[in-house]
Amino acid sequence: MMVLDICRSLIFLIFCFLAHVLSAQITSCNSNDLRALTDFQYGLNSDPDSQGILMPGIKSWNTSDCCIWDGVVCESWPAGLNSSMRVVALELSGKDLRGRLRESLVGLGKLRSLNISNNILSGSLPAKMFKMKNMEVLDLSNNQFTGVFPGKCDLPSLQFLDVSQNYLSIMDTSICINSTSLRHLDLSMNNFSGNFPTGFDKCTSLTHLILNSNKFSGILPDDLFQLQNLQWLQLQDNSLSGSLPFCLSNSPTIQYLNMKNNSLTGLINLLSKFEIS
Ligand SMILES: *[C@@H]1O[C@H](CO)[C@@H](O)[C@H](O)[C@H]1NC(C)=O
Ligand SMILES: *[C@@H]1O[C@H](CO)[C@@H](O)[C@H](O)[C@H]1NC(C)=O
Ligand SMILES: *[C@@H]1O[C@H](CO)[C@@H](O)[C@H](O)[C@H]1NC(C)=O
Ligand SMILES: *[C@@H]1O[C@H](CO)[C@@H](O)[C@H](O)[C@H]1NC(C)=O
Ligand SMILES: *[C@@H]1O[C@H](CO)[C@@H](O)[C@H](O)[C@H]1NC(C)=O
Ligand SMILES: *[C@@H]1O[C@H](CO)[C@@H](O)[C@H](O)[C@H]1NC(C)=O
Repeated sequence: MMVLDICRSLIFLIFCFLAHVLSAQITSCNSNDLRALTDFQYGLNSDPDSQGILMPGIKSWNTSDCCIWDGVVCESWPAGLNSSMRVVALELSGKDLRGRLRESLVGLGKLRSLNISNNILSGSLPAKMFKMKNMEVLDLSNNQFTGVFPGKCDLPSLQFLDVSQNYLSIMDTSICINSTSLRHLDLSMNNFSGNFPTGFDKCTSLTHLILNSNKFSGILPDDLFQLQNLQWLQLQDNSLSGSLPFCLSNSPTIQYLNMKNNSLTGLINLLSKFEIS
């Protein structure tokens, strides 16, 4: 009787193990994620004749299991036995990628981090990309993106956004309204112009604001100095004018401030960490 019980238990355990291994294999790459990545990859080649031919930087993207592709990071979701593998991050910096970003990227429903910095991507940023609920880190820096940034935006989980070193030319601060966890915002070295925008005060979690080397003009709005957590502010190499508020030099949080190469005036405690003129 005893032996029979042990056998039964053993057979049950082996069955469970096999079921687990099989399910892990079958669900290794979620079919929606696979579709989204395949379409994303088609957009990369701007030459229509080359669609389907993999660019050198992603030549490992040739199997149906996207979770083993170079630069694709998967996690089982939800955690636990009854889960499938979902793409949570794309690490595609410096892969010599050319072409455009396609809207299909939003099919990656569990994506938390997208790093496509240091490539030669061009065209405008797809509007839907700014509606991804789980996105925490977006690094699009050092590409050739043009156009509007970001327009209507619903990125409630966003903490880090870097679009520096592109050719973006139109911006507003509406991103602050829905992305209240945003801590690091870098829009430097773009083609932004016009009066310095108001509304950054809505980005209440901001610690780093980097806007240097654009063509912002006009005076700095008061609301900029209401950011309670701001540690790092770079505004150098713009065309800003007017006077700097005194409160800035007394801010307990500010650690680095660079305002060089503008037409700003005003008194400020000239501590060595500040570069004013
Ligand atoms: C897929 O890509 C890998 C890595 O580049 C390569 O070693 C392999 O031969 C390719 N397989 C097919 C079927 O093209
Ligand atoms: C496993 O997941 C499927 C769908 O993802 C669901 O229908 C099913 O109820 C789940 N089973 C358990 C035991 O949680
Ligand atoms: C993106 O990848 C590059 C290269 O690996 C890295 O230097 C950079 O810090 C990454 N960006 C983020 C936000 O992690
Ligand atoms: C904030 O998100 C909501 C819900 O998606 C959207 O309707 C609204 O337009 C967004 N606001 C801004 C300023 O982008
Ligand atoms: C930069 O903006 C100016 C207008 O302010 C425009 O004439 C120019 O074409 C833009 N450059 C690029 C590369 O988008
Ligand atoms: C001052 O900033 C402008 C851009 O606004 C830039 O073209 C110029 O080279 C900068 N001058 C110096 C001395 O850095």
